Amino acid sequence: MNDRLYIFDTTLRDGEQSPGASMTKDEKLRIARQLEKLGVDVIEAGFAAASPGDADAIKAIAEAITNSTVCSLARANERDIRAAGEAIKPARYGRIHTFIATSPIHMEKKLRMTPDQVVEAAVKAVKLAREYTEDVEFSAEDAVRSDMDFLVRVFDAVIEAGAKTINVPDTVGYSIPALWGERMKTLIARVKGADKVVWSTHCHNDLGMAVANSLAAVMNGARQVECTINGLGERAGNASLEEIVMAVRTRKDVFNCDSKIDATQIVPASKLVSTITGYPVQPNKAIVGANAFAHESGIHQDGVLKHRETYEIMRAEDVGWHANRLTLGKLSGRAAFKSKLGELGIVLETEEALNTAFARFKDLADKKREIFDEDLQALVSDEGYAAEHERFKLVSMKVCSETGETPQASLVFTDDGVERRADGFGSGPVDAAFKALESVVSSGADLLLYSVNNITSGTDSQGEVTVRLAKDGRVVNGQGADTDIVVASAKAYLHALNKLDAKLERAHPQV
Ligand code: KIV
Ligand code: ZN
Repeated sequence: MNDRLYIFDTTLRDGEQSPGASMTKDEKLRIARQLEKLGVDVIEAGFAAASPGDADAIKAIAEAITNSTVCSLARANERDIRAAGEAIKPARYGRIHTFIATSPIHMEKKLRMTPDQVVEAAVKAVKLAREYTEDVEFSAEDAVRSDMDFLVRVFDAVIEAGAKTINVPDTVGYSIPALWGERMKTLIARVKGADKVVWSTHCHNDLGMAVANSLAAVMNGARQVECTINGLGERAGNASLEEIVMAVRTRKDVFNCDSKIDATQIVPASKLVSTITGYPVQPNKAIVGANAFAHESGIHQDGVLKHRETYEIMRAEDVGWHANRLTLGKLSGRAAFKSKLGELGIVLETEEALNTAFARFKDLADKKREIFDEDLQALVSDEGYAAEHERFKLVSMKVCSETGETPQASLVFTDDGVERRADGFGSGPVDAAFKALESVVSSGADLLLYSVNNITSGTDSQGEVTVRLAKDGRVVNGQGADTDIVVASAKAYLHALNKLDAKLERAHPQV
């Protein structure tokens, strides 16, 4: 037996519930395109009823994506289901994912509903969702703390009402693998019509066991795993997609199933999500951490050189590391540039956008000898950020940094096309640049996060900077990339200001 394991990615919904990770519509679209390339079966694109911005982003993703199912979350009520149904309408394959809590604590204290009312609402929701699509998923929120007999009753009823996927969430990350596997096995054995639906698991990582619990569910019959890129998600996050996919693939002998994920797209997906959300990937993170395939000890290095499999259970290139082949050089033309972007799945909507990106590529090729796929991704992302809304734009800057002297920055930028100049001092060149900008713009925003990542290796690598600003309860991430990290920082700061100005970030889905 070698079953299909469905991968349901919820980076754009549960992942977006991470503090500060809310994304603009364009950012969500960029990630959705990469998820489609990665081959995920279902993209949970958002929670349509949360805000018009959320619904709009889901609609845009439903229009753009053709190979993955596009899904919206909906609570078990009419308003949510209708909003979800409308948002997924343009999708080639669309799903509504409706949920209601089933644990005593949630029913009593949060919903203030009796168990009978919960069953009734769940059935009604599934029936209404079926008016929009045949592909309806039902989740019993907080299934981990729900009574088993009650779960069986709810699942019997929603299957009868037309649900095609039954999701069992460990909403609070409370389970342990043996118990979670047992719970899945019991449900599949006891629920009527269990063989007519796909059983799914959705685990949170509060005790660091989201992946282990999900895999235990798979070993006991679950055939859909809900997960996110880099394990992003509410609180400690969700099960990480890359770990689930590679565990199942590497240990086919144990799992008897596999996904259709193109694993070579895992590292690019991880980098894209990290860049857009500003959540860095820890170096020792399995699969996608910078050290995941680095052998440090002499004994290990010796072993790997003699026979790779002495210490390696997976190949770095199979998950997308080192796939960053040298792509283009200084002498490459516009046609080669365009075709390379096509290979990378990057779509530039207009000729003007292509021309601007090409000019920036030439600029970069002057500064950096070797240009890799990741450089092109960053360059085009930078272009994308600019295209969204660009009140402020960096023209030029100069920084002075000398031992024993206070660093100083002078910048020229445009504000709605009008050139302005900013000067400032700081504890370092980046601090000086931000203080200079703030002295002119006076946004009053709080800086919540500043992070720099190198896009490729080497000191000539582009630095990619994320700046997270908060103002009046809104949190935005700004990004900038350049071979000069102080320039990248100034671009990121201005990008964040542009987002605050344009109100590009949607309200947090749970607000
Ligand atoms: O954690 C959870 O229970 C959820 C549900 C909406 C599936 O995210
Ligand atoms: Zn969740």
